[in-house]
Amino acid sequence: MSHPLFIYFLISLSLYSSCTAHRHTFTVKEVPYKKLCSTKKILTVNGRFPGQTLKVYKGDTIYVNVRNRASENITMHWHGVEQPRNPWSDGPEYITQCPIRPGSDFIYEVIFSTEETTVWWHAHSSWTRATVHGLIFVYPRPPKSLPFPKSDHEVPLIFGEWWKKDVREVVELFMRTGGDPNVSDALTINGHPGFLYPCSKSDTFELMVEKSKTYRIRMVNAALNLILFFAIAKHNLTVVAADGHYTKPINATYITISPGQTLDLLLHADQNPKSTYYMAARAYHSNPNINFNNSTTIGILRYTSSTSSSSKRYPNLPYYNDTSAAFRFFTSMKCLYSGQVPVKISRRIISTVSINNLMCPNNSCEGPNGSRLAASMNNISFVTPSHVDILKAYYYHIRGVYGTRFPEFPPLVFNFTADDQPLFLQTPRFATEVKILKFGESVEIVLQGTSLVGGGIDHPMHLHGFSFYEVGVGFGNYNVTEDPSNYNLKDPPYINTATVPRNGWVAIRFIADNPGVWFMHCHFDRHLTWGMKVVFIVMNGRGLNQQILPPPPNLPPCY
Ligand code: C2O
Ligand code: CU
Repeated sequence: MSHPLFIYFLISLSLYSSCTAHRHTFTVKEVPYKKLCSTKKILTVNGRFPGQTLKVYKGDTIYVNVRNRASENITMHWHGVEQPRNPWSDGPEYITQCPIRPGSDFIYEVIFSTEETTVWWHAHSSWTRATVHGLIFVYPRPPKSLPFPKSDHEVPLIFGEWWKKDVREVVELFMRTGGDPNVSDALTINGHPGFLYPCSKSDTFELMVEKSKTYRIRMVNAALNLILFFAIAKHNLTVVAADGHYTKPINATYITISPGQTLDLLLHADQNPKSTYYMAARAYHSNPNINFNNSTTIGILRYTSSTSSSSKRYPNLPYYNDTSAAFRFFTSMKCLYSGQVPVKISRRIISTVSINNLMCPNNSCEGPNGSRLAASMNNISFVTPSHVDILKAYYYHIRGVYGTRFPEFPPLVFNFTADDQPLFLQTPRFATEVKILKFGESVEIVLQGTSLVGGGIDHPMHLHGFSFYEVGVGFGNYNVTEDPSNYNLKDPPYINTATVPRNGWVAIRFIADNPGVWFMHCHFDRHLTWGMKVVFIVMNGRGLNQQILPPPPNLPPCY
């Protein structure tokens, strides 16, 4: 095959990919990190926390060899990457694969398609994503260019949560006692808690900027259990993308970001270079009955030209319980391109998202009144299989792993958001029930928050395998006759994580044109662990390119 054209093709291919590589090695291993005055071993990829940034062009396929050299199971997920027809490399443990065991490897084939701004990767086994995560920059494929002015520099900005304890112990403890997990000890920006925390003076993120240059901040909220507000003193931010897709530009003095979400922001270095400007992030938290980490992480923005800094400026962040500030930001987001939203739907699924609890013998658990906490969708607290994953069970027709009776409608209709709820509503059913969708169906999912157990809380709900349009969001009970008339079917945000407000609802739409097994869950890891999750199986279509790809070699074995 030495046709000159073919050689030319090879050469141009390799020039083309000069700043991006199609093969990567992720060695998962434990390394010691010192934060907040103490050292512990954390799980990392290639020894780094947060992990490295991957760079790809739109439509690329990359191969990531994940080598597990740690002492616990791991899987990797490519959050926001739709992976057309390729659930095999999606990652959630016991949903699309069995875990990579210590000492074993698995090569993920990550297929990019429509996503074109910023997405991210994270581990998807228990709470390992706490320290195993990183960004993915997606560039338009030349000659296509960006729909906004090119920036001079790109700045990765990753929010995280840090526990002084081993995260495995945090998980083990709350699962054993049935109570709430310990809240984290610090929030971090690019791994740095910032100088407000003990022993963190030199552990503060610093961004040096040059006067009159533009910086593109590529941001993800990788915190496990917190929605965050973020702002930079004196500097407005222009939002240009969310969850891997462009938005209409929005000028913002602060932003709100839920766990799982990504944002692309333009920062203009247009202020007095003599001052030092702080950036800060802290929680948005709507329910005062639930404990949370109410500390603040600080980073520093400095101008290169400044010799001595004359003054220090702090940003204004909304109060932690400012629901209208949080949702003013969320609802200001609009997708850039109008006219792509499914207008007619062929299936509407309405599901509650609830916190639940169960009685314990002698009220011996540590949840409310001695109960054990749980969570559910349509009152089913999802039980994850523990020997074989759902994808394998589906593909190879293995019986007895899951049922197909996830209800399309809440099994019991009550005043979902009432102040007082009868106790019997609090107990969920434990089951492994999936929802089957036919290929090409036009689906609407309404997620309805409830006030069960503790009075309700927001839920950042994430869907694998798709981006969807968030056509509506509201407070109180969803009204199927009235609310659809207020939907935005023109330019709603095109995203993969939608935040259900406390005692409110969201409605999302997508075409089920990606055959496979796709997880949907709350991106608060404590709710995920408690069972706020469901699996969609999208059946194959007729066409050859409407069918699940064959399984890759060397899938991690199940046992
Ligand atoms: Cu970012 Cu299933 O997760
Ligand atoms: Cu939740």
